[in-house]
Amino acid sequence: MKARQAGLAVAVAFAAVGGAVAVDKGADRATLERGKYLVTIGGCNDCHTPRYPESDGKVPESEWLTGVAVGFQGPWGTTYPANLRLALQAMSEDEWLKRARSAMRPPMPWFNLAAMTDADLKAMYRYIRSLGPRGTPAPQYAAPGQTVTTPYIVFVPQNLPPAPRAAAR
Ligand code: HEC
Repeated sequence: MKARQAGLAVAVAFAAVGGAVAVDKGADRATLERGKYLVTIGGCNDCHTPRYPESDGKVPESEWLTGVAVGFQGPWGTTYPANLRLALQAMSEDEWLKRARSAMRPPMPWFNLAAMTDADLKAMYRYIRSLGPRGTPAPQYAAPGQTVTTPYIVFVPQNLPPAPRAAAR
């Protein structure tokens, strides 16, 4: 009788643990799906994934966010879309929240990232980390005037209309 009761208790405990695990897995999957969705519609791949825009987004997920070695050059110097697969492996979730809310150089739309909720930022963090580390770090930022040997895009508006003069009013 005692043995049967103990057996029942164990069975109930297992059922409870099993149920909890199943629920956690479900929540985790949902978080990762949300992270992937936010990365996709947030346009992160547009700059941080090699050949993403050129291929109409047809880059295997395994290669997403590995950084790009073609710089953007403007008055801020030359910047390279970071390898987020490596960068996020090296950050705690708290460090990520701080980084995601701090100013970055153009053309990184950091103000959009900074406007996301903690829950959304955490989902992106978990998703990007779930992809695992891959690739090499993007080249180092180069200050204005510094010689750059990598390919780069000149990101400066051309052919702007002349600024209106005060006298013309
Ligand atoms: C228009 C191009 C562009 C888009 C779109 C873009 N980024 Fe960036 N990102 C950059 C560039 C360039 C840098 C490097 C900025 C610098 O050197 O200050 C950068 C830097 C970063 C960094 C800093 C990495 C580090 O090592 O600290 C993070 C984090 C980041 N981007 C996340 C994102 C996320 C998440 C998205 C999508 C919501 C995104 N970026 C969309 C261009 C872009």
